[in-house]
Amino acid sequence: MATITTDRSIQLNAFEETKTGVKGLVDSGITEVPAIFRAPTVVLDNLKPPPASQLTIPTVDLKGGRVFLKKQEGSVTRRGVVVKIGDAAEKWGFFQVVNHGIPLDKMEKMREGIRGFHEQDTETKKRFYSRDHTRKWVYHSNVDLYTARAASWRDTLCCYMPPDPPTLDDLPAVCGKIMMEYKKEIMNLGELLFELLSEALGLKPNHLKDMGCTESLVMFGQYYPSCPQPDLTLGLSKHTDFSFLTIVLQGNIGGLQVLHDKYWVDVPPVPGAFVVNIGDLLQLISNDKFISVEHRVVANGATEPRVSVPCFFSSIMKANPRVYGPIKELLSEQNPPKYRELTISEFSNMYGTKELNTSALHHFKI
Ligand code: OGA
Ligand code: NI
Repeated sequence: MATITTDRSIQLNAFEETKTGVKGLVDSGITEVPAIFRAPTVVLDNLKPPPASQLTIPTVDLKGGRVFLKKQEGSVTRRGVVVKIGDAAEKWGFFQVVNHGIPLDKMEKMREGIRGFHEQDTETKKRFYSRDHTRKWVYHSNVDLYTARAASWRDTLCCYMPPDPPTLDDLPAVCGKIMMEYKKEIMNLGELLFELLSEALGLKPNHLKDMGCTESLVMFGQYYPSCPQPDLTLGLSKHTDFSFLTIVLQGNIGGLQVLHDKYWVDVPPVPGAFVVNIGDLLQLISNDKFISVEHRVVANGATEPRVSVPCFFSSIMKANPRVYGPIKELLSEQNPPKYRELTISEFSNMYGTKELNTSALHHFKI
């Protein structure tokens, strides 16, 4: 056992020292997945395929987005959207949105920018490789490289946006401009989604925003290189998101799966759509009305790399003294609080010490 552990840590260190991530391995021409990436069969299990193949997460039409839906406040149209989103947030914790108002070319440019970052000159990119999260942005492979049982087939660009966003000069030259533009669009869409989710909880449209749910945004540029043996590893192992809400640009190569009724359900790429999911913090403040659901990404078996851009609302607000607990307006004798109150930094510390694929929420259950 000891030798295995030592071998593993030697291999992990060797991989880390290349500073070129999984893409570097693929570029070097490997034809087999190295041992450190091989996930145990229990982790790879596909359970059974869902009984109904049409089973999929709901798609919600946002009717053109915020400006239009603003004019529709109180209308049947807006109410219809609210009901659909609320229903999806309760039953699936996941949905896709179309007709959201973000231009398709910005979405495409964002993915091209992220692809450009990961595919730029290796020597330039190596200089950015870091796990120092006090920086405005970092590039590395596997956030949990040293704690996970198996590494995953993915490299990540991680950028801290509001409340203390970078300037254009701080960002990588290949994708900085589009990242700044994209951030604005996502903040706007996020505000709309939090309004609709507030209404779905029976609260005033500004309730979640007023609680600070839109104050912090972390943007990931995920790059899943083509994997020579996609059945032996994962692209991203099973986890729930730490955030209040996550908006994911999945791109045209599928692979994202959601655990629903004990089945891994594929999230099919829908052209022009965003995938939206509820994170742990929103499950907590909604007192389990909305659910933060486990999901994963299978290893990319396509010949092209899979590029996705998840944006997490309020994933870190380390200096924020605010205390979060189940929203008082939702509580009653029949619905007593299920969680104790906590600060985001308390929650984030817990998150940092646990394995990615275990839940943080239950540590705060009453
Ligand atoms: C994540 C995530 C999905 C994807 O980064 O938390 O779930 O498609 N990403 O990359
Ligand atoms: Ni996730």
